[in-house]
Amino acid sequence: MAADVRDGARRYLERRRMSGVEVVYRVAAESAGEPAAPAGPPDGIPVATSPAPPAEERRGVRFSRDRHVPVQSSLFAGPAPAERFDPGANDLGSLERLVSACRRCGLCDGRTRTVFGSGSPAAKIVFIGEAPGREEDLQGLPFVGRAGQLLTKMLAAIGFTREEVYITNILKCRPPNNRDPQEDEMGACEPYLARQLEIIRPAVICALGRVAAHGLLKKGTSLSFLRRAVHYYNDIPVAVTYHPAALLRNPNLKRDAWEDLQMARRLHDERIREE
Ligand code: URA
Repeated sequence: MAADVRDGARRYLERRRMSGVEVVYRVAAESAGEPAAPAGPPDGIPVATSPAPPAEERRGVRFSRDRHVPVQSSLFAGPAPAERFDPGANDLGSLERLVSACRRCGLCDGRTRTVFGSGSPAAKIVFIGEAPGREEDLQGLPFVGRAGQLLTKMLAAIGFTREEVYITNILKCRPPNNRDPQEDEMGACEPYLARQLEIIRPAVICALGRVAAHGLLKKGTSLSFLRRAVHYYNDIPVAVTYHPAALLRNPNLKRDAWEDLQMARRLHDERIREE
């Protein structure tokens, strides 16, 4: 690509970004014989990348690590800090107790148990699903039904056990008849997930399915666009793949999911090496 064309394209994308339009760079760096865009994924990920924007732009609203006070970093995203609910807990046990008593949305009326999360509090990788299903609601644990059994196999395929990762959901209560989570429910539950991630501080996040990716990244784009790129939640790289339930419905997607998971594993290994 000629340098002036490339610079023009960059200036155009930068103007779009400054005006609040989200821009995902898909740079054909390899074919142009140039190094990949800065802050892209580690070596060996030959896929489209969304390089990390400056930290203050990575997400509209961040939570301060020191004071647990929400700080707003963008005029365009999220409600004003004063409106955001701060669960306040400093460890997973206290946070789980708060969640178990939560009545922030209507789902509390239909739940048997809240489903907070499971796995290692010291996990370097967190897998995030959509919401508890029937089995999860009964047991109070994430991904224990059929989709959960497949998730366990998916983890094993990239060398993880359930005990060494952390698994949770966007919603902590089951929606009636497993319907899609609603925006207000996701908004009500978001501070809990944000706090979980602040406490665990994983090196990598893997979003399972469109709803999880949307809840986490606030990107309404389709899953096929979100996959195969590295996104960021605050400073944490996020890989996106299919929900295990989608793989149960359509086993042809398993090959793509396998590639996504390998990317997540490589991101994990790369970040661990850097620490
Ligand atoms: N599907 C999810 O998204 N989460 C679970 O915990 C179970 C099924």
